[in-house]
Amino acid sequence: MKKPIIAPSVLAADFSNFAAGVADIRAAGAEWIHLDVMDGKFVPNLTFGPKLVQDLRPKSSGIFDVHLMIYEPDRLIPEFAKAGADYLTIHAEAAVHTHRLLVGIHKLGKKSGISIVPSTPVSFIEPLLPLADLVLVMTVDPGFGGQELIPECLDKVKRLVEIRQRLGGAFLISVDGGINETTAPLARNAGVDVMVTGSAFFDAPDKTALVARLKG
Ligand code: DX5
Ligand code: ZN
Repeated sequence: MKKPIIAPSVLAADFSNFAAGVADIRAAGAEWIHLDVMDGKFVPNLTFGPKLVQDLRPKSSGIFDVHLMIYEPDRLIPEFAKAGADYLTIHAEAAVHTHRLLVGIHKLGKKSGISIVPSTPVSFIEPLLPLADLVLVMTVDPGFGGQELIPECLDKVKRLVEIRQRLGGAFLISVDGGINETTAPLARNAGVDVMVTGSAFFDAPDKTALVARLKG
């Protein structure tokens, strides 16, 4: 069984020194950097825009996994692509024409992601799976770090694994929210390829050891 990719979220980093947070991520052996973009409308929190991605890009060769928790993501997708995002993940609940948006992300030469909040069933995004390089299953209600994982959301991971086997799809399955040493084994057993972790990573005294433990 392949070990999962770990994607620490800078939402839990020190906002006065993102570069240090990114350096910690790379030093700990995590492959991806998860960047939580929030507009204060789609989610009740507000974070940062494309300029942070642009400024962090030269500081890390890691994969920039940009999670767009924003309404009308079409307004900013080109900016984040230009800034250096590798994956651009939109929310299925944040736009009507998500099919067109995923096609647009590919036209920009980027990897496309689709994310669903806890109340959204997998069936809602099934038509989009052929266009997705990544499916991000929210295991908390989005907006804030440090929340408890909602275990029922892991059933969606199992369903996505089944669908991928049936479709012959190539999308990666990621989980986001409440991932720590206790919940990581549940996510691994469900079949995830990527695990996002914010507070567990940035609160860990030994980040390298934590990454190794999350990978199992
Ligand atoms: C929540 C974000 C998550 C969050 C994860 O809306 O999408 O990426 O930062 O943080 P933890 O791991 O602390 O739940
Ligand atoms: Zn996220």
